[in-house]
Amino acid sequence: MPAKPLQFYLDAIEQADLPGVEALRVAWLGRNGTLTDALRQLASLEPEHRRQVGQELNRLKQAVEQHLAQRQQQLAADALRLRLASEAVDLSLPGEPVAVGHPHPLALIQDRLVSIFVAMGFAVAVGPEVEDDWHNFEALNFPHDHPARDMQDSFSLAAGGWLLRTHTSPVQIRAMQLSAPRPLRIIAPGRVYRRDDDATHATSFHQIEALVIDQAVSMAHLKATVATFARTLFGQDVPLRFRPSYFPFTEPSAELDVGCLFCQQAGCALCKMSGWLEVLGSGMVHPKVLTAGGYDPEQVSGFAFGVGIERLAMLYYQIPDVRLLLEGDLRFLSQF
Ligand code: DAH
Repeated sequence: MPAKPLQFYLDAIEQADLPGVEALRVAWLGRNGTLTDALRQLASLEPEHRRQVGQELNRLKQAVEQHLAQRQQQLAADALRLRLASEAVDLSLPGEPVAVGHPHPLALIQDRLVSIFVAMGFAVAVGPEVEDDWHNFEALNFPHDHPARDMQDSFSLAAGGWLLRTHTSPVQIRAMQLSAPRPLRIIAPGRVYRRDDDATHATSFHQIEALVIDQAVSMAHLKATVATFARTLFGQDVPLRFRPSYFPFTEPSAELDVGCLFCQQAGCALCKMSGWLEVLGSGMVHPKVLTAGGYDPEQVSGFAFGVGIERLAMLYYQIPDVRLLLEGDLRFLSQF
């Protein structure tokens, strides 16, 4: 009978380390282990013996299994406790830095513009990006043959009469319809769409529209407002130029140029050697537009202007290609 008394096994288990426990398990309970063998040999015993020896052997085997498992658990727990004690965590150490995102340069510029105008007393208005022909063109006094109405410039929707707005100016009409005949002073930032695609034009870009309507609003108010805005953004000393222009919805119309920030007006490719960069379109609201919005042009007057946000961002951050602002390349974006 090769099995030994229980105490023999317990002593050996007590002495074993972690790999030792596993070695004992194999030596006793593995396929060719001594206890496995002893159990196998039960078959050759006489029946009256077999029952009693078998019971004892099985009890022994169970006790050994249980003690092996206990010892293994205890050794593993000891090892873990030891490791944790030697790898003590210093809670006063600074944490791992977490990568945090930040606003897109276009959002930064738009926020700056909005806060400049809000400080001047403007309210923020919004309008839909899917517009009807009347708000986008008709009410803004675009003649039927005006090139901007051409399918080349705008995205028409399959549903008749709808298009993706080509500018934020239709918000002028919507704001007027909500406010007439009361005075109005709003800006309207938002996305606009055109069928353009090159280094300085994208199919989708952003504008901020501004509109002021009140009694006796004059060109002087317009000039002072855009000059204040440009100087707040680009600095008090930035050279400014007001240049006559044409828009169907303003009369007279003017554009604001700032001295080229790339070449300090010495002349470069970006300002086409002129020393000036165009920043916004503006003018006194056309009487027909006031009427379309529900105002009486005999009672009130107004000024309006529209700023391209991508363009301003390019000037402000000296970015040479508008597509950099639209691609989402982190090598570019993480510089802001
Ligand atoms: N809507 C014009 C455009 O997208 C910009 C503009 C010009 C807006 C003159 C105005 C304005 O409000 O008075 O080109």
